[in-house]
Amino acid sequence: MVAFRTSLFGFAFGFLPSAIGQTSSSTPPTSTNCDCGFQTNDGTIWANTFAVDWASYTQDIDADSALNIAQYQIEAKYKNTYPRTFSRQNVMAVDRSLNLIVKVNSSSVTCASIATTRKDILYGSFRAFVKTTTTPGTVASFYFYNSDVAEIDIELLSRLQSPWQAYYAIHPEVHNPDGSANYATWSYSNLSFDATQDFHEYRFDWLPGLTVFYVDAVEQYRSITNVPNVPGNIILNHWTDGNPSFSGGPPLHSAVMEVTNMTFYFNTSTPQTLVCQSMKTPCEVRSGKTLTNLQPATHSAASTNLRYSFLILWFYRILAVLVLVHLFL
Ligand SMILES: *[C@@H]1O[C@H](CO)[C@@H](O)[C@H](O)[C@H]1NC(C)=O
Ligand SMILES: *[C@@H]1O[C@H](CO)[C@@H](O)[C@H](O)[C@H]1NC(C)=O
Ligand SMILES: *[C@@H]1O[C@H](CO)[C@@H](O)[C@H](O)[C@H]1NC(C)=O
Ligand SMILES: *[C@@H]1O[C@H](CO)[C@@H](O)[C@H](O)[C@H]1NC(C)=O
Repeated sequence: MVAFRTSLFGFAFGFLPSAIGQTSSSTPPTSTNCDCGFQTNDGTIWANTFAVDWASYTQDIDADSALNIAQYQIEAKYKNTYPRTFSRQNVMAVDRSLNLIVKVNSSSVTCASIATTRKDILYGSFRAFVKTTTTPGTVASFYFYNSDVAEIDIELLSRLQSPWQAYYAIHPEVHNPDGSANYATWSYSNLSFDATQDFHEYRFDWLPGLTVFYVDAVEQYRSITNVPNVPGNIILNHWTDGNPSFSGGPPLHSAVMEVTNMTFYFNTSTPQTLVCQSMKTPCEVRSGKTLTNLQPATHSAASTNLRYSFLILWFYRILAVLVLVHLFL
């Protein structure tokens, strides 16, 4: 009876039964229960998550308010390159993945780009499982963008195939006297796999004053130079501009970059307080090929979903107080 009363008291005054308050590997983190944030392998805590599992995505992508498909042209950047025309038609969710198509026909080359609608992302850990094209002459990019002078990129150039390489860059880039990219803001790694055969996890963790790049959960490069400190959005795109020293191309035929899922943990430009009601500690998140039951296009640990858990919590607290009063009278 005493124990029963104690647990009721605990429940009524803010302590939750351990079954709700613990994370274990059998209950992977979701945005609905991780109201104490998400913790990545370096110990950093993030208030929000946004995830899309394209393998089970059934929405109309054009009507998805969390995502924004590009429809615009970027003028040619260098001599002997051509403008990049991003076309809405080149982005689709088919065959259990997001397809970003560089479309080529006898008269034009068009590109594909999709971004988070929200542009208030300020630091985070961003992961996407990507498979790129065997067709040389395109760039598959996964990046944070505020402006051309506040950007973090991971890029796969399909003209570089033996070995396949991943490029990592922070803008503005530091250049060597001969014009080449300086290691302070740029690096690459030779990949031990064929990037067109399977999905691999490309990840960057953007922290105040530090950016760390990973492939399949293994660190590849870190930089403390020119790390952005302004909010922006996360973009995935597939493009070419014919630049022989970068994208190469134009590709001989249409080429597809595929994304099977993407998971972002992040903070925003509006400071958030972690409620820590249904959880007492942050949910630990892993990188690499782990199975987590993420919901399609969900967001926010610290805001929207919590209103409901608050209501439910207060309902049970009041109920517990009523039971106690009943027991004592
Ligand atoms: C993200 O926000 C949470 C909640 O305010 C805070 O505890 C955490 O330190 C922030 N993370 C970073 C990297 O600023
Ligand atoms: C080539 O593709 C563009 C963009 O998709 C389209 O507007 C145009 O009609 C196509 N031209 C031919 C010759 O198929
Ligand atoms: C990547 O591979 C190329 C070609 O085999 C080699 O020349 C280069 O040194 C390698 N780079 C790194 C960083 O391992
Ligand atoms: C994403 O896809 C990869 C490759 O299929 C899979 O191993 C991983 O578990 C998936 N992650 C999520 C969060 O769905």
